[in-house]
Amino acid sequence: LKRDARFAEVTSDDVKFFQELLGSESAVIESISKDASDDIEPFNTDWMRKYRGHCKLVLKPETTEQVSKILKYCNDKSLAVVPQGGNTGLVGGSVPVFDEIVVNLQRMNKIRSFDQVSGILVAEAGVILEVADNFLAENNHIFPLDLGAKGSCQIGGNVAANAGGLRLLRYGSLHGNVLGIEAVLPDGTIVDDLCKLRKNNTGYDLKQLFIGGEGTIGIITGISILCPQRSSAINVAYFGLESFEAAQAAFKEAKGQLSEILSAFELMDGRTQKILSYVKDKKLPLEGEHPFYCLVETSGSNAEHDNEKLQNFLEHVMGEGIVTDGVVAQDQTQINELWSCRETVPESLGHWGGVYKYDLSIPIAELYQLVEDTRERLTKAGLVGETDEYPVVDVVGYGHMGDSNLHLNVPTRRYDKEVEKHLEPFVYEWVQKRNGSISAEHGLGIAKKAFIGYSRSDTMIRLMKQIKDLYDPKGIMNPYKYI
Ligand code: FAD
Ligand code: MLT
Ligand code: ZN
Repeated sequence: LKRDARFAEVTSDDVKFFQELLGSESAVIESISKDASDDIEPFNTDWMRKYRGHCKLVLKPETTEQVSKILKYCNDKSLAVVPQGGNTGLVGGSVPVFDEIVVNLQRMNKIRSFDQVSGILVAEAGVILEVADNFLAENNHIFPLDLGAKGSCQIGGNVAANAGGLRLLRYGSLHGNVLGIEAVLPDGTIVDDLCKLRKNNTGYDLKQLFIGGEGTIGIITGISILCPQRSSAINVAYFGLESFEAAQAAFKEAKGQLSEILSAFELMDGRTQKILSYVKDKKLPLEGEHPFYCLVETSGSNAEHDNEKLQNFLEHVMGEGIVTDGVVAQDQTQINELWSCRETVPESLGHWGGVYKYDLSIPIAELYQLVEDTRERLTKAGLVGETDEYPVVDVVGYGHMGDSNLHLNVPTRRYDKEVEKHLEPFVYEWVQKRNGSISAEHGLGIAKKAFIGYSRSDTMIRLMKQIKDLYDPKGIMNPYKYI
């Protein structure tokens, strides 16, 4: 990949312009007038430590007008831009590839309004997801998205990535929950569509292009989102199973027996739990080892009734021999403890240095087969082992089973070309053969850009390119990525 010569390099005059525009010292971080600054490193490096950019300028606007002036200036001068939220994305989309300017939204962190009756929240893009959810909790509501990175990701980043997460099974995708968007186009135009209506069929629904657009057509500065009532009763169970067939049977039973109160159904294989237990030096909730574990959450309005339903479910699946062993959380501390067995999987897998991540939609019957096939392939190639001479630590699988979304992960001691060669395009071809998706919820970024054709037709890709060219004719928005 080569730097696109159409893009200008940042000069000290540009820096001066932005300093004057943004006013505050801390709103501009630069290493043009001085040596490379350590302060800029975190903005150049992604969460997986897999991608590293070389940007020399980070801008932190505080208002939509400032974002508009930044983009207009960049567009006029052909300066490339990377929008950045909490920088927790997993496809290398949030960091520059070369010297693109980072526009980080962290200072746009105000909640603008919340309507107690409709549950509609209007907030700026840089609000941290957990902050938004805590605010909503005080108002008896819930953010319709939850994920392990909630403490650092931003709601604008979530929307730009169209993140799926742990609650999608119950509350659906952001494509349905986001009611309106305020965004800035590369030429500085402010798209003022902070609609607060549940229904609005007046023309094309253009905001959908920004949801999952990964910062390629504009910068989201605000969102309006429909937030459900917070359930007063949350119950969580964690159980061990002997096969993936059993996990499918348990899911079917959970849907049948827990029906309207089911709010999450997550899968972790035994290997991820073993790794988590080792890395976090923590005892798992169940004695013994099981090849598979599931976490089930219910959210309803009657704690006793819901708890009884969950207990009955567990007794039933254990009685039928579907589940081998299980535990139901008795209080909030135990709920958090059980959830941590799922939520801290991603960071545990990063323990050895690197991790190849594949985020896939696969028809449920074959969901776990990919993990086994991949493990066999890498093992046969002599790449998997317990000592340092082997690059691969293990091949594991977990994910949002309720959404047929598998996370195939290959934790490694180092990023290694040989390992990569054995994984790609193997994984993508495997998924294509089953009409799955090579990117279920993490997006394309730079990691998956070259592989879009495994999940989308030439016609679809051509239409996407037309949209990109229409909104961003000079191509300054998050270049080298997506399509
Ligand atoms: P960033 O990483 O900063 O950016 C993501 C993309 O959006 C980039 O392309 C960036 O250019 C663009 N972008 C960011 N902000 C804006 C904006 N305001 N306007 C326009 N473009 C913008 N994802 C899931 O779907 N489900 C999960 O369960 C899940 N769990 C995770 C758990 C962990 C521990 C981690 C580290 C990540 C997880 N992710 C998950 C990945 C997920 O996409 C992100 O965590 C989150 O949605 C990204 O938000 P962010 O603010 O960090 O965005
Ligand atoms: C998750 O479900 O934990 C996230 O999508 C992150 C990951 O895939 O590791
Ligand atoms: Zn996920």
